[in-house]
Amino acid sequence: MKKIKRIGLLTRDCAGINAAIRAVVRTASAHNIEVLGVKHGYNGLMQGDFQPLTSRSVSGILNLGGTILKTSRAYAFKTKQGQLKAIAAIKNSNIDAMIVIGGNGSLTGANTLASRYKIPVIGVPATIDNDVNGVAMTIGADTAVNVALDAIDKIRDTAASLERIFVIEVMGRDCGYLALQVALAGGCENFVIPEQKLDLKKICADITKGYAAGKATWMIVVAEGKAKAPALAKKITEITGLETREVVLGHVQRGGRPTAFDRILAAKYGSFAVESLIKGYSGKVVNISNNQLGLIPLAHAIKKKHIAVKDYDRLVKILT
Ligand code: F6P
Repeated sequence: MKKIKRIGLLTRDCAGINAAIRAVVRTASAHNIEVLGVKHGYNGLMQGDFQPLTSRSVSGILNLGGTILKTSRAYAFKTKQGQLKAIAAIKNSNIDAMIVIGGNGSLTGANTLASRYKIPVIGVPATIDNDVNGVAMTIGADTAVNVALDAIDKIRDTAASLERIFVIEVMGRDCGYLALQVALAGGCENFVIPEQKLDLKKICADITKGYAAGKATWMIVVAEGKAKAPALAKKITEITGLETREVVLGHVQRGGRPTAFDRILAAKYGSFAVESLIKGYSGKVVNISNNQLGLIPLAHAIKKKHIAVKDYDRLVKILT
């Protein structure tokens, strides 16, 4: 096993990623390992766009959203030509191993580096979507839920004052996690998610019944991967005859100061990723299960994640 002297660190963006960068760099530094930050994600990796990171250079970033390394969607990395450019840049810069912090797309790239090109790689799950298979919590998801919740609490003020229906669209790509959390925590009447069939007739019948029984607000959270809020709001007005407004929360959910939960997760995941590389692990993703840090295969982590919806269905129905 080759001793690791230099780690390349590549990231996506969401709240808590800077805290994870700090954890990686400072843990590596404690083991006398250098860290080269990869600028602009996989595009930067293909171009050899690296920035040395030291314990001092990551000071003051713990509470910042986004990523200090910048990132991008790198379609060229999906081609063999792009991948070979990245491998050449890794070798030319004497990078012995990589840590990739991000969601499904970033971890799929990490899996390619490890399985096809035999680069030692550890993935750190970080995405607001919380859609990494086998991982209970990704960095950034808790902050995103809290940001969306803050917006919903504010929207409720207007919903209650005007006795309006609101349809609020949250992110999450093909996963309903964000919508489920926000609906339950925000006291919303319905969630519309990719994991479930949308029964608009039933929702509208419930709204009509609810308003007749004296309900003053009706809030529906829709996951972007299932339906679009403006179209849904229009249909609800058409069917119920009640005033409906839509709000698309969009990228506001991906930014902001990381919550304490995300900072702590980032500290644990980032540090453990470095220690795992030192112990010789590769092709794995960091995870916490039963309060214990561990590793799961990257190939498993990038498969579709199943979300259990039953409990949310029951609770949202009883509690609203
Ligand atoms: O994966 C994170 C995420 O914010 C998804 O929730 C969303 O669908 C997507 O990224 C948006 O991507 P972009 O910022 O490239 O528009």
